[in-house]
Amino acid sequence: MSTTITFVRGDITDQHVDAIVNAANSSLLGGGGVDGAIHRRGGPEILEACRALRASHYGKGLPTGRAVATTAGRLHSEWVIHTVGPVWSATEDRSDLLASCYRESLRVADELGARTVAFPAISTGVYRWPMEDAARIAVETVRAAETAVEEVRFVLFDEPAYAVFAAHAG
Ligand code: APR
Repeated sequence: MSTTITFVRGDITDQHVDAIVNAANSSLLGGGGVDGAIHRRGGPEILEACRALRASHYGKGLPTGRAVATTAGRLHSEWVIHTVGPVWSATEDRSDLLASCYRESLRVADELGARTVAFPAISTGVYRWPMEDAARIAVETVRAAETAVEEVRFVLFDEPAYAVFAAHAG
C-alpha cells in the first residue's frame, strides 16, 4: 500500500485536501459536530446537493456504513464524502459498520480520483464510540485498504483524540 497516513490536531474544515469526510447521519440533512461544521463552513450548496441525493438515490436516507460524495462548497476541497457511522452499542458489535465507513469512503474517493482525503474520528462524538477502539478500527482499515489515495489525514479535534490516534502511527 502506498498510502501515507498522517495525524493532525485541528479542524477538518480547515484542511486543504481533495476530499473531506463528513461524519453524517442517515438523513444527510446536517447535524452538530463535524456535520454542523462542514455545512456551516461549506455553505448551502452542500445541503442542496444532499437534498438532491435524498430525492434521487437515497429516499430512505444513507445507510450506516455507506458513503456518498457531494460538492464541498466553500471548503478548501473539491468534495465532501458523507458517511454514516454506527452508534456505539455495549451489547452489539458494530465494528464492521465503522470499518465500512472508512473502506467505503476510500472507494468513493477512488471513484472521484481524490488523492488526499481527510477523515474525522467517525462515531466518537455524538455516537459515543470509545476513542481507542475507533482509532484502532480506523487505522487498521485504512492500512488494509486497496486504494489509489496517496494521503489519508486523520484530523483530530482535541489533544486527547490526537494522542490516541497518533499512537497508532508507524
Ligand atoms: N473537525 C474535526 N473533528 C471534529 C470537528 C471538526 N470541526 N467537530 C467535531 N469533531 C470531532 C469530535 O470531537 C469527535 O471526536 O469529530 C468526532 C466525531 O464526532 P461527531 O461530529 O459528533 O460525529 P459522530 O460521533 O459520528 O456522530 C454523528 O452527530 O453531528 C451529528 O449529524 C451528525 O447525527 C450525526 C452524529
